[in-house]
This record gives sequence, structure tokens and C-alpha cells, in this order.
Amino acid sequence: MTTSGIRSVVAGSVLELVLDRPDRKNAFTGAMYSKLTEELNQAAQRADVAAVLLRGEGGNFSSGNDLKDFLESPPTGTDAPVFHFLTAIASFPKPIVCAVEGFAVGIGTTLLLHADIVYAADSARFQMPFINLGLVPEGGSSLLLPRIAGSKAAHELLLFGEPFDAEAALRHGIINQIVEASKLLEYARQRVQILASKPRAAIMESKALLKKSQEPELLNHMRVEGDAFIKRLRSPETAQAIQAFFARK
Ligand code: COA
Repeated sequence: MTTSGIRSVVAGSVLELVLDRPDRKNAFTGAMYSKLTEELNQAAQRADVAAVLLRGEGGNFSSGNDLKDFLESPPTGTDAPVFHFLTAIASFPKPIVCAVEGFAVGIGTTLLLHADIVYAADSARFQMPFINLGLVPEGGSSLLLPRIAGSKAAHELLLFGEPFDAEAALRHGIINQIVEASKLLEYARQRVQILASKPRAAIMESKALLKKSQEPELLNHMRVEGDAFIKRLRSPETAQAIQAFFARK
């Protein structure tokens, strides 16, 4: 594990970003959000980076925001590291591919809605459990999910907050393809290399056209959600739910 919890390497014009905190199933800390933001902002400008691959270390994508951090150092404004990260991924101009195995919980699922292409292992398990923690959806998911999965599915996933498998994620349009776990990383690397080899300006312009119409609305919605999320984080229900998580063993 690195001190920032993020590893990065550039290979063949692809920046591979690795969530590297396996003992916490890659739960996100403030330092991880900050490092990812810095990497994405630099990658947007770097001539040697044409595309990004994001994955988790140790058999899981991410267990979501670090729950201890939510109790001890919660975000207090929309200038917190988590919001900078969400804005950076929402506005990233080059293709982003995610490879998901194991758990993708909370922001581990939310960020997939911003990625361009998502490959998941048959073993992947997704969940947006905000409601169970007394929280509201984040990162634009209450806008993006109804558009991606349809209104009824979005209500079901966000209001029940239950886990769902890779087949359901595929059906809801959250992932592009299910890949056997042992082949996932190799496959995702091959696919992102193909994107990196396409004409650079055309692929960036195509991505901009695909996202342009909803970007101002999305960024505004993320700010509104962020304010609501921060308020809910201070609620007694949230403190109780997080304490119950740590007391469960
Ligand atoms: N924040 C902080 N620590 C976390 C964490 C999180 N989001 N998710 C897991 N961990 C820690 C666990 O406390 C455990 O630590 P321990 O070994 O000291 O007990 C370790 O990571 C392994 O997790 P564990 O719960 O034992 O693994 P599991 O396979 O039984 O369950 C999850 C995996 C992801 C289903 C479960 O850990 C979980 O529900 N995590 C919280 C998810 C969440 O609510 N995220 C925030 C959404 S807003």
C-alpha cells in the first residue's frame, strides 16, 4: 500500500490508477481523493496520456468512503477533497475505463456512472447504501442513475440501498460487460489501449459531444446533492449507523 492509497503508472499512453488500500477494501480517504484529483487534472493536460484505467487492488474495487472519516473528519463544504475528485472525474476530457472486481460500494458505484466504459468481473457486488446510513445520493447519482438505468430502477437501487450483482448492473446499464474474474484486468487493459490508439483529438471531441448537453446541469446537481449530503452526515441516524457498522464484529 502507498501512503496516499493510490498507485499510478503510465504504460503505452494509458494512465493506470490503482486504489491501493486493500486492508480496508480500498475505502476512500481524503488523501486518496486528493491524489486522484491531482492525477486526473495532470492527465487531462499530459501529452503522454490518452486514456485512463481505474481499478482496485486486492480483489475489490472499493468499499466506499472511509466510514471512520465520515465520523471523525466529515466533509464540511463542497470544497472538500471528495467533491474536487467528483468534479474532476465528471469533467475529465479523455476516456476513462474502470475494471471492477469484488465490492464496489457507495462512491465505488457512484464513480462508475461517470466512467465512460466499465468492465466487471462476474463476482462483482455493487451497492449504493446511502439510505441505510441516513444519507442521500451523491456525486450526481440522483441525476445520472435515472438516465442510465431508468427512473424505476434508480428509485429501487437508491431507496432500498440493497446490494446487486454484475448481471443486475449490466441490465441497468451501469456496466458494459461481464468478464471472467481471472481475465478482467488483461481484458480491460487491452480495451483501454485500443481507445488510447484512436485519433486523440477526435476521441476527446466525441467524448465532449457525448457529455456536453448534460454537463452544466450535472455539475449544478452535484453541488445541490453535496449540500444535502453534508447536512445528512451530521444527523444522529448517520452516526448511529456508522457506529453500528464498527460494532458489528
Ligand atoms: N470504511 C472504513 N473501513 C471499512 C470500510 C469503509 N467503508 N469498508 C470496510 N472497512 C474495513 C472493515 O471495518 C474491516 O476492518 P477490520 O478488518 O479492522 O474489521 C475491513 O475493512 C474488511 O471489511 P469487512 O467488513 O470485514 O469485509 P466484508 O467482506 O465482510 O464486507 C463490505 C465488505 C464492503 C460489504 C463491508 O465492509 C461494508 O459494508 N463496508 C462499508 C460500506 C459502506 O457503507 N461504505 C460507505 C458508503 S457511503
